[in-house]
Amino acid sequence: MTSTRGLEGVVATQSSISSIIDDTLTYVGYNIDELADNASFEEVIYLLWHKRLPKMDELTELKQQLTANMSLPQEFLNHFKTYPIDKVHPMSALRSAVSLLGLYDDKSEDMSDEANYAKAINLQAKIATIVTAFARVRKGLEPVAPRADLGYAANFLYMLSGKEPEEIEIEAFDKALVLHADHELNASTFTARVCVATLSDMYSGVTSAIGALKGPLHGGANEQVMKMLSEIGSEENAEAYIQEKLANKEKIMGFGHRVYRQGDPRAKHLREMSKQLTKLRGEEKWYNMSIRVEAAFTAQKNLPPNVDFYSASVYHSLGIEHDLFTPIFAVSRVSGWIAHILEQYENNRLIRPRAEYTGPGMQKYIPIEDR
Ligand code: SDX
Repeated sequence: MTSTRGLEGVVATQSSISSIIDDTLTYVGYNIDELADNASFEEVIYLLWHKRLPKMDELTELKQQLTANMSLPQEFLNHFKTYPIDKVHPMSALRSAVSLLGLYDDKSEDMSDEANYAKAINLQAKIATIVTAFARVRKGLEPVAPRADLGYAANFLYMLSGKEPEEIEIEAFDKALVLHADHELNASTFTARVCVATLSDMYSGVTSAIGALKGPLHGGANEQVMKMLSEIGSEENAEAYIQEKLANKEKIMGFGHRVYRQGDPRAKHLREMSKQLTKLRGEEKWYNMSIRVEAAFTAQKNLPPNVDFYSASVYHSLGIEHDLFTPIFAVSRVSGWIAHILEQYENNRLIRPRAEYTGPGMQKYIPIEDR
């Protein structure tokens, strides 16, 4: 038995949800480029959960179900105020809050298809409210309730700022949600599948996935990219900064990928969004700096930008606080986690790989007085 570090190249399961073949990403066979340009996030949620695009009435029903389930009970919101609110990272708050959500659902342990679908709607709907409510409560602001007349992306921005978002902001945020929804067997999705393969519940599966996404090698990279851009400060400093980091053998967040070799197809959409939104805000420096960082990095390492690199300047241009970038990744990716959890339940087998033992050979026990 020989182990493969990080399970690189290991095919751990079969799935018909998303595919990454020759650097092309599809959700149920639909190319991400077509979905990013044409589909709403709600259409993608339906596609991932039902493995086909919705008809108009099915999409309308899903939108209504999500909006109707977005509100959080007051006792839940009061719970945020018990957190050490100024010290808690929003991803840690989200991990705890999703776990708490399960306590309030009296059907959390019901494994019927109907109950699991209800949990899916509950999680997808409330995760947006949890992230925005926490972001406001930690600043001493009251949460903003969702509006029945707004779609998912618009409601998120509205609940975060308390102001009705502009059309261009809604379109950009909706596209970002589409681009982050699913990605084959990435670390957090694999975590979710391992968890529910023990026949544990959906809240446990999503809570464990949030824990995995939080790390800077995975979903946490987007916040680190913004931190890096802020440290660089101006486009003139980009080359020297990157050269110094690489000379020190440091990893540059937002670049490289375990699967993609020629490039992450999502990055080009986010690069274009960054160009448009930073210009709209009169803050082109973030886009220009990103372009200079990409040029300086790829001149030394053949590792193109991944989904996290340009999403940083996109979210910044939408006025979103930097430590909310990874929770936003979770707001989108929970749709993919749920799809994989449902698929795992459909044809389950406990996921239990082996370890290549490298410890000492057989040993005799020695009583403590003789050690
Ligand atoms: C996401 O898996 C998914 O699908 C994830 C995701 C999704 O949608 O779910 O796409 C989202 O998580 C994107 C990745 C976000 N993370 C980052 O941007 C963090 C920075 N990137 C790296 O840590 C790294 O590229 C990973 C974690 C993304 C991939 O790591 P691997 O496959 O384990 O590669 P590695 O660390 O073994 O690196 C191979 C070589 C090394 O050089 P050598 O030691 O062989 O000389 O490439 C180098 C690394 O040092 N390298 C980098 C680098 N990434 C790899 N060097 C500098 N900066 C980097 N970013």
